[in-house]
Amino acid sequence: MSDQQLSGEVYYPSKEVIKHAHAKCDELYKFAEENLEGFWAKEAKELHWFKKWNKVLDDSEKPFYKWFTGGKTNIAYNCLDVHVETFRRNKLALIWEGENGEFRSFSYFSLRRESCKFANVLKSLGVQKGDRVTLYMGRIPELMIGMLACARIGAIHSVVYGGFSVESLHERLEDSQSKVLIVADGSYQRGKIVQLKKIADEALQRAATVESVLVVKRTGEPVNMEAGRDMWYHELMNLPIANNACNIEVMDAEDPLFILYTSGTTGKPKAILHTHGGYMVGVYSTLKYVFDIHEDDRYWCAADPGWITGHSYIVYGPLLNGATSFMYEGAPTHPYPNRWWQIIEKYGINILYTAPTAIRGLMRFGEAWPNRHDLSSLRILGSVGEPINPEAWRWYNRVIGKEKCPIMDTWWQTETGMFMITPLPCMPLKPGSGTKPFPGLQMDILDESGNPVKANEEGFLVIKTPWPAMIRTLYNDPERYVNQYWSKYPGYYLTGDSARRDEDGYYWIIGRVDDVIKVSGYRLGTAEIESALVSHSAVAEAAAIGLPHDVKGHAIYTYVILKAGFEKSEKLAEELRQHVGHEVGPIAKPESVEFVDSLPKTRSGKIMRRVLKAKALGQDPGNISTLED
Ligand code: WT7
Repeated sequence: MSDQQLSGEVYYPSKEVIKHAHAKCDELYKFAEENLEGFWAKEAKELHWFKKWNKVLDDSEKPFYKWFTGGKTNIAYNCLDVHVETFRRNKLALIWEGENGEFRSFSYFSLRRESCKFANVLKSLGVQKGDRVTLYMGRIPELMIGMLACARIGAIHSVVYGGFSVESLHERLEDSQSKVLIVADGSYQRGKIVQLKKIADEALQRAATVESVLVVKRTGEPVNMEAGRDMWYHELMNLPIANNACNIEVMDAEDPLFILYTSGTTGKPKAILHTHGGYMVGVYSTLKYVFDIHEDDRYWCAADPGWITGHSYIVYGPLLNGATSFMYEGAPTHPYPNRWWQIIEKYGINILYTAPTAIRGLMRFGEAWPNRHDLSSLRILGSVGEPINPEAWRWYNRVIGKEKCPIMDTWWQTETGMFMITPLPCMPLKPGSGTKPFPGLQMDILDESGNPVKANEEGFLVIKTPWPAMIRTLYNDPERYVNQYWSKYPGYYLTGDSARRDEDGYYWIIGRVDDVIKVSGYRLGTAEIESALVSHSAVAEAAAIGLPHDVKGHAIYTYVILKAGFEKSEKLAEELRQHVGHEVGPIAKPESVEFVDSLPKTRSGKIMRRVLKAKALGQDPGNISTLED
């Protein structure tokens, strides 16, 4: 692979990086290509199973693929107990810094203890295998403890990102029928306090299934505690029921581990379901090879545990690898734009994994901020969430990585659970390209009628081979699972992205082709924003689109038709922006609210967002023969 002549701007990894890497490129691709199941079986054998599987891949009920059927395991056991029982008992599993400068750390021993105690608390509240538990908080250790506690007893966790607000939380509580909500009193963001418990109280007024609310004290601000429903986490953790030991629930490989809601093309967010066995193997193996985790590494994924990136690569992946995971609560620029660089120096971070939007945001403050810090501990960098523009890539490479840290631009999705298109540290890189599918995976780029497109032509990105961490179904909606992902090109998984492949076989992601908008790497649906707008008493109809933005990648623009009797005004536009923030979350606040008298629609009444987009960008709207008016 390294001998090949590649076209365009190419960066070759250094001899040291290649020598250090777990991944030996030629060998790995060859082995996985020739024997996909053998490859994954080999990876799975590195983890603990109470009972070995009968079959690696069971495709008898496509597209409901099953992995490691007959196998018995538990991901929390592999994340904690395995290390506690070996030489990693006293190794740091988690290092945490709060935005306000507070610091905490957990060895594998203490993280297991805390999660066991909390698992016992959950059991005492009647939580059983298969029950759903919702977690809603900022980036704090209790989120990790809560997720691991659920996994330990076989409860299904549903984490709701702490940046979401009332309606998003309500919808997710209701859809998952959660009995228990674990919430923080608040969280620190940019020096301000977000009152999470207050938001939760409002959401709970709309949701009926929650019996118990466990409140983690983070900010200490006064909160409303409803008698008989709300309890303090720290008080429960001090009761005798919070025993230090908690038996592990032996799980079937295909038993659900978690659901995670993500925005889709239409309607309500979808609950993506992942399992104990396959997800565990996929996440373990991809992190090991791509970020080349070694025993003494300190690894920092700066995403939020409330998104799949955090699930797979702050919590499960690093712990499965016995690594030291670092978590930071707050904003990269608080109190100054050197906060991240200071953290890297202070904790000696070796691997940094973040999003293009964060890099672009920090780039704006100039090189002086990072240059003030010793970043020489860094060995590998990562990027995720949206395409990285070559300019940001080069800055990241030169200013942060000092031209010695390869950048792993990982393409994947909530649905894929693990990295899918990604470099390995042994590969030549091209800025802006995620390079190639992970060993053993086959992907393609198709035209409308399902034929592969030529080199450098744009088309629909599909996945042709199953993979262990793949989505199993949409919770409570298997039909939608089949329609959404497997019906456009039967047999192939439809990603919803468009992409092109160059003459060297390198993939270049262009972006979403559906009504999903990536704002600062966060995935939002036009439907959620629009339904928040129409829930306001002044709004008759609304449309949302994403338009290019320098730092955020895309920003939300909305068009609103007012109900009779309401007047257009700056004040009302601002009120509508705030309303979306209150219902969906601050990340969903539109950049602009424009009042219009009509919206472009098809004859069947569907809003033609592409026409709005073309108009806003001053482009030709293309084929508008289906336009009603
Ligand atoms: C969508 C999935 C997977 C973790 C974070 C996002 C976009 C993701 C990349 C990348 C170009 C990317 C795609 C994808 N995306 N990573 N490296 N290069 N685009 O997970 O919220 O489920 O979003 O994010 O459009 O479909 P998600």
